[in-house]
Amino acid sequence: MKKNAAKKALEYLWDGMVLGVGTGSTVEIFLDELNKNKDKFKNISCVSSSIKTASILEKNGFKVIDLENKVDLYVDGADAVDEKLNLIKGGGGALTREKIVAFNSKKNIIMVDETKIKKNIFEIKVPVEILQFSWRATQKRILDLGYESNLREKGAKPFITDNGNYIIDVNLIKSKDPINDCLNLKNIPGVVEVGLFKNMTDILIIGEKNGNVKIINKTV
Ligand code: A5P
Repeated sequence: MKKNAAKKALEYLWDGMVLGVGTGSTVEIFLDELNKNKDKFKNISCVSSSIKTASILEKNGFKVIDLENKVDLYVDGADAVDEKLNLIKGGGGALTREKIVAFNSKKNIIMVDETKIKKNIFEIKVPVEILQFSWRATQKRILDLGYESNLREKGAKPFITDNGNYIIDVNLIKSKDPINDCLNLKNIPGVVEVGLFKNMTDILIIGEKNGNVKIINKTV
């Protein structure tokens, strides 16, 4: 499913473009496909959303540049998507750089397998990147809003993002207005970024179990 979606995403690329690249297993499949088609894309420059993605791009011989001017097209995966193309992202912990690159791109394409399509994206926890310095206090302020969260761990230690921060995963399933609550979370000092991507996706590519690929375009 992911491979079919990734192959379809490749059709939106052109040589000479500035390509923004997300993070995660779907993106890694996309990068494999891109690598197989390297000859067609000799002159692309890439802006990466993570150290991992940058290292794959560089290993494959693609040019990686800093984010400065607008990226032509951003391609990424997601953890959950709803019918309005709102996303939850950050399962891999790269949400902050992903959101920055996505925001600075002319067009956003998201590739998912059909299991990621949800009626309510908040049935999964929302990843929130926070500063290490104040993490316990930040977690308490989130609890004051009524929401439990857990510090993400890797092995027995806290997971550390590419930016040197922690991630807490916040359970908003009981929220009456989770989208607004994400804004409230973002406003807490110590919170760097929240994994809700609202109104950012232009094209959703869904790889289905039956082998079909469905495309949903943003309706304005
Ligand atoms: C990385 O932090 C995430 O936002 C990923 O884009 C998301 O978790 C999708 O990952 P998979 O493609 O591995 O499902």
